Amino acid sequence: MIWKTKITQLLNLRYPLIMGAFGGWGKSEFASVFSNVGGLGIIAALNFPNLEDFKKDLQNMKSLTTKPFGVNLSLPHHILRDNEEGEKTRKRYLDYIEIALDENCHIFTTSGYKAAFIGKRVHEAGGLWFHKCVLIKHAVSAEKQGADGVTLVGLEGTGFKNPLTNTTLVNVTLGRKLLKIPIIAAGGIGDARGFLSALALGADAVCLGTALMATEECPVPKNIKEKWLQLDIFEESFHDKIYKYNVKNFMAPSTAIGHFEKLVPLQTLIEELITGATKILDSWGFDHDELNTLDP
Ligand SMILES: Cc1cc2nc3c(=O)[nH]c(=O)nc-3n(C[C@H](O)[C@H](O)[C@H](O)COP(=O)(O)O)c2cc1C
Repeated sequence: MIWKTKITQLLNLRYPLIMGAFGGWGKSEFASVFSNVGGLGIIAALNFPNLEDFKKDLQNMKSLTTKPFGVNLSLPHHILRDNEEGEKTRKRYLDYIEIALDENCHIFTTSGYKAAFIGKRVHEAGGLWFHKCVLIKHAVSAEKQGADGVTLVGLEGTGFKNPLTNTTLVNVTLGRKLLKIPIIAAGGIGDARGFLSALALGADAVCLGTALMATEECPVPKNIKEKWLQLDIFEESFHDKIYKYNVKNFMAPSTAIGHFEKLVPLQTLIEELITGATKILDSWGFDHDELNTLDP
């Protein structure tokens, strides 16, 4: 099956799949596996406090894959103040951008706050800028500021939330009505049904975060990954962590972990997602070799 969406076309991807940004873990060894299986691997720049190490990791990425990949910068609000400290931080972020551009990376994802200054520089260099947010109103604002696409993270997802965060279903269906730019759906997606339904809701791709924690290649220590696989996602304390706004718990895996019983190779996870989605389409009587969402 050929998967044709605005995102696969724009980024030259085999599948409409984007790797989550992973603070601590999103480096070339892991990201290259994701790119090689047909999605967009993401290197989280802030994993490299030393810019020279960041450059080396980009070079390593290019030795591990010839497929497209992106660089993420996460911008927490408290370090982007309109003062000297904020100015210094913004300059530092732009240093990461320059290094990535130098290494011929032209796809950038940002998350958090006030990322337009990054988008501006990326566009000057002819690159693409995708912003990740949890509120539709922030996605509308990112579109106005020139973002080439947005990732909308629903309440089901892990990571930073806002007290007004809506579910993935609400974000994507209403986002589809309010936005012209491509949407990447994130939040709670961990199986073929979730993947396919996100496309049906109006997404042009899906971002996988927690699901990738259930892979052998994920560099999180094995004992922690095994512990996550044992989590009872229907238990009250787990529910509270995910669905109730609490900035401190932002690193808990999402309910997507409930789709996995054991660690699997990343390639197997993606193959199962894709063949599972194809089987569902078959069972519905879809008999084309190409799934094309370009014309809604
Ligand atoms: C271990 C881990 C680390 C993460 N680190 C970041 C980060 O540094 N920046 C960011 O924007 N999102 C981060 N996220 C969130 C993911 O990029 C993604 O938006 C989220 O996991 C999607 O929801 P899901 O987990 O339900 O798939 C992280 C997620 C996990 C599981």
